[in-house]
Amino acid sequence: MKAAVLHNYCEELQIENVDLEEPRKGEVRVKMKAAGICHSDLHVINAHLPLPVPIILGHEGAGVVDAVGEGVTSVKVGDHVVLNWVPSCGKCYYCQIGRPDMCDEAAKISAMGTMFDGTTRFSIGGKAVYQFPLTGTFSEYTVVPERAAIPIRNDVPFELAALVGCSVITGVGAVTNTAKVEPGSTVAVIGAGGVGFNVIQGAALCGAKQIIAIDVLPEKLEMTKTFGATHTINASEEDVISAVLDLTGGHGVDYAFEVIGRPETMAEAYNITRKTGTAVIVGIAAPNESVTVNAFSLPSQSKTLTGSWLGQGNPPVDYPKLLDLYAEGKLKLEPLVSKIYTLDQINEGFEALKAGKNIRGVIRFD
Ligand code: APR
Ligand code: ZN
Ligand code: ZN
Repeated sequence: MKAAVLHNYCEELQIENVDLEEPRKGEVRVKMKAAGICHSDLHVINAHLPLPVPIILGHEGAGVVDAVGEGVTSVKVGDHVVLNWVPSCGKCYYCQIGRPDMCDEAAKISAMGTMFDGTTRFSIGGKAVYQFPLTGTFSEYTVVPERAAIPIRNDVPFELAALVGCSVITGVGAVTNTAKVEPGSTVAVIGAGGVGFNVIQGAALCGAKQIIAIDVLPEKLEMTKTFGATHTINASEEDVISAVLDLTGGHGVDYAFEVIGRPETMAEAYNITRKTGTAVIVGIAAPNESVTVNAFSLPSQSKTLTGSWLGQGNPPVDYPKLLDLYAEGKLKLEPLVSKIYTLDQINEGFEALKAGKNIRGVIRFD
């Protein structure tokens, strides 16, 4: 079985033969059909997210259940599934209070790069190969906990269903669950990548009257208009703060979203938000980085600065719901896929991601 393995940080992934154990109790083997290349995977390659190596990355994927371990009840062989990279435990404090996105157990195990029992199912020559984060979709097959394999309708092409696993739930959920954008609102989105495009279409779904897309690449900014952006700002040519103030009568926007993962643009999101408005940080910075905001503004402008992880969603409920929205023509998925790669071409996909070329590059396993 072939998989793309990261052996050392800041190196290319190696396509090689990897051994995969049978699913154990409560686990499921999935034959991967499609996997999106997300910036969070690049954060691991760049050593911004510290995880053990060697590791199989990839967390935005769809496939078919190929085998189930003892006691599995929620899926059966042949089911189409989207993988869930926050397979919440249902028992911890955050699961109990209805915030499965914040599950302590899933966060702890993801950082270890293992399965829930602390061991790995992937290996090379008897040596453990880790998987990120309880998924590992850059592999022809993967073994995941039952809760990480969410059954879906079987009439959506896998390369579109895969996107729902991360970029769609993260982007749309940041708008609908975290910000709860109301009709008629003004919204700014910093970073028009795979996730940012979904923040834009989420804001359009909520009936925002003004959606300002901000990026450094003119071709991408142009495309944001088909997803509902009403205005665009090229951050490499214009001063973002004054451009947003100009577009909002000097107030700033009701809701700003940072969808890149850089402290400077996170501060920018806060600064373009109007008094009492809400800035939502979606992008993931390295754990040792900090954001600076003006201290006096905290009380005197009374903005809300918050974050959104997995779009504050609940995958078993939200993945099927998002795919239904797609089937009803309310959510765009096809135009998010800029390029299809084979697993062998994965490093090419990461180069394109670094250059910001694709909205989403997707690997198809045929
Ligand atoms: N100002 C505006 N846009 C910028 C800037 C900047 N200074 N720097 C980069 N960008 C744009 C890029 O051109 C690109 O279009 O940000 C976008 C980032 O998109 P992707 O690389 O496709 O990243 P994506 O997969 O969407 O993830 C975005 O969300 O979930 C997190 O870990 C993920 O931190 C990452 C973020
Ligand atoms: Zn992702
Ligand atoms: Zn939990």
